[in-house]
Amino acid sequence: MRVAVTGGAGYIGSHTVVELLEEGHEVLILDSFANAAPDVPDRITAIAGHAPRIVRVDITDAPALTAALQEFAPEAVLHFAGLKAVGEAVSNPLEYYRVNVTGSLVLLQAMQAAKCRRLVFSSSATVYGDPDQVPIPEDHPLRPTNPYGHSKRMIEQVIEDWGVANPEIAAVNLRYFNPVGAHASAQIGEAPSGTPNNLMPYVAQVAAGQRPRLSIFGDDYDTPDGTGVRDYIHVVDLAQAHLAALGLTATAPGVQAINVGTGRGYSVLEMVRAFEGASGKPVPFDIVARRPGDVATSLANPRRAADRLNWTASRDLDAMCEDAWRWQSYLLRKNS
Ligand code: NAD
Ligand code: WQD
Repeated sequence: MRVAVTGGAGYIGSHTVVELLEEGHEVLILDSFANAAPDVPDRITAIAGHAPRIVRVDITDAPALTAALQEFAPEAVLHFAGLKAVGEAVSNPLEYYRVNVTGSLVLLQAMQAAKCRRLVFSSSATVYGDPDQVPIPEDHPLRPTNPYGHSKRMIEQVIEDWGVANPEIAAVNLRYFNPVGAHASAQIGEAPSGTPNNLMPYVAQVAAGQRPRLSIFGDDYDTPDGTGVRDYIHVVDLAQAHLAALGLTATAPGVQAINVGTGRGYSVLEMVRAFEGASGKPVPFDIVARRPGDVATSLANPRRAADRLNWTASRDLDAMCEDAWRWQSYLLRKNS
């Protein structure tokens, strides 16, 4: 099948493109490379043994995006492109709404012009805000607490309304929990520029000796050890969930939201210990104040994913840490 992948050179997109190519799909990556290294497509090709097509394009550039989709005529689109740093979104909300919301509108219009009716969108568990219950089911109220989360909720709404007006549309809004890890080949992974926002890349840089200590944001939460609990999911499991969602769009018209997580939580301290075990390196830390906006526990109810996608995560915490460490070690060698 011909699949266009916006943001296909990014962290989650690149892992998904590998899985698509390995399944024999024809892939077009649409990416501005705003947050991706230029050699990612070559690395994808090295892993998968097939090359994706690439168009360097900004998703807010309507003429260029429309022309690229008309030319490729995809049967489906996976939409990863966007901005994702919560702190940056708070300080620059207009840019986040421009890229995430306007960019998605431009994409849907370009899909319409190209008569492409199948979509899988990268939403986020952040749309739930501070949850009333954990694990969180998909019908939990959506109450995002920052502009990044609002942008995801708005895009989900736009896709839902598009589906109501066009009954032939089949779309899945995948709500990711906490993606971590890297491809086992250590050819692709997450390479944050500047200080990492997320726990796992920060821990990896401390283990690698690139940063002196981890700051743990609070140990007085209502959790077993007082540190925040999250539902970490291996990025390759997440990539495979996209292929399952793509399959669902072939048979299920309409728009549906599906959580992508394991349903199993780990605390910050458990993550630190697991990473020390996988890397054989110490991860020194300090307990500091809570980070504003953080919740104690966030866990997916993964039942709908199991029922509708016939998919469950298979990679455990050791695999997440081992693969993240292999990738971090590669980055360290490359930059030394
Ligand atoms: P990423 O930054 O690695 O990938 C995003 C890709 O989109 C990059 O390759 C970037 O160059 C590209 N891009 C950015 N702006 C663009 C634009 N205007 N036009 C074209 N391309 C553009 O991020 P990721 O972690 O792979 O996340 C992918 C998607 O998943 C994002 O939509 C993100 O919001 C969502 N998501 C990520 C997480 C997470 O923790 N990583 C969690 C939930 C949801
Ligand atoms: C995990 C735990 C922190 C860093 C964020 C976004 C969310 C989604 C995924 C895109 C928490 C603690 C972290 C550190 C720490 N992204 N922590 N020290 O906050 O669950 O979700 O990323 O959609 O929208 O909000 O993930 O990795 O930042 O934090 O103690 O240096 O680690 O307090 O308990 P989070 P995270």
